Amino acid sequence: MANKLRLEGKVAIITGAASGIGEATARLFVEHGARVVVADIQDEIGHQVVASIGTEKATYRHCDVTDEKQVEETVAYAVEKYGTLDIMFSNAGTLGTLGSILEMDMTVFDRTMTVNARGSALAVKHAARVMVAKKLRGSIICTASVEAILAGEAPLAYVASKHAILGVVKAAARELGQHGIRVNCVSPYGIVTPLVCETYGGNAAGIEARICEKANLKGVTLNTKHIAEAALFLASDESAYVSAHNLAVDGGLSSIMKLN
Ligand SMILES: NC(=O)c1ccc[n+]([C@@H]2O[C@H](COP(=O)([O-])OP(=O)(O)OC[C@H]3O[C@@H](n4cnc5c(N)ncnc54)[C@H](O)[C@@H]3O)[C@@H](O)[C@H]2O)c1
Repeated sequence: MANKLRLEGKVAIITGAASGIGEATARLFVEHGARVVVADIQDEIGHQVVASIGTEKATYRHCDVTDEKQVEETVAYAVEKYGTLDIMFSNAGTLGTLGSILEMDMTVFDRTMTVNARGSALAVKHAARVMVAKKLRGSIICTASVEAILAGEAPLAYVASKHAILGVVKAAARELGQHGIRVNCVSPYGIVTPLVCETYGGNAAGIEARICEKANLKGVTLNTKHIAEAALFLASDESAYVSAHNLAVDGGLSSIMKLN
């Protein structure tokens, strides 16, 4: 398997691909033969990611997932540039701000829901429209979170938005199955990325130590490549009969209640 290109000839859009999990996935998908549209709102670092991957394999596209027109145009761009769309990885996200429910800022709540839940619904909608019209048996993947299964430490709006993504994935998988389109999500446990550092503050090493301390699985530190590998599985034909699945990459944490 190691030498086999698992996405040879496939075309993918990855939202939130200028950084973190999205960036790692863009690199891994290209290593496996895909051509990738790196979609994000951070234009400068998005272009840098594409330059380091190679402009013959990847392109950058500004796409704010809160804007339906931009999502639709990004899908159209991928199809025009590469002739098809096989994979949509809806990964862009925001964690929001910490604080008590009693003082919850509803503008932050709305923003979190809009980026995470509505943004995923838009990515699913516009990828599916093209896949159905072109009779493509595509794979759509959303990044949810361990916070989509349980309420860990994240803000209420984040927990709610990630639970909503599970609903988006299940409902989309229900309708799109008849077209041969699979819809799944990947749910990571904690990884030190800008998203996490912005919300939790402090230094990266300190945050990582805390994540490891609370982890169920010891001896390995979760990183972005682990999530990229899970997305690669869901994107590839190896998961040909997997749909409406939430692939937790959390070392078992979301299935376990520790009593001591
Ligand atoms: N890092 C973790 O611990 C963790 C755990 C579970 C789930 N996740 C999820 O993983 C996904 C990726 O996050 P990450 O940890 O790699 O963080 P990150 O900060 O490295 O990447 C997030 C990317 O999303 C982009 N983005 C934000 N708002 C956007 C918008 N409106 N339109 C387009 N792009 C936008 C950012 O510019 C950034 O490049 C998110 O959905 C996040 O909720 C992360």
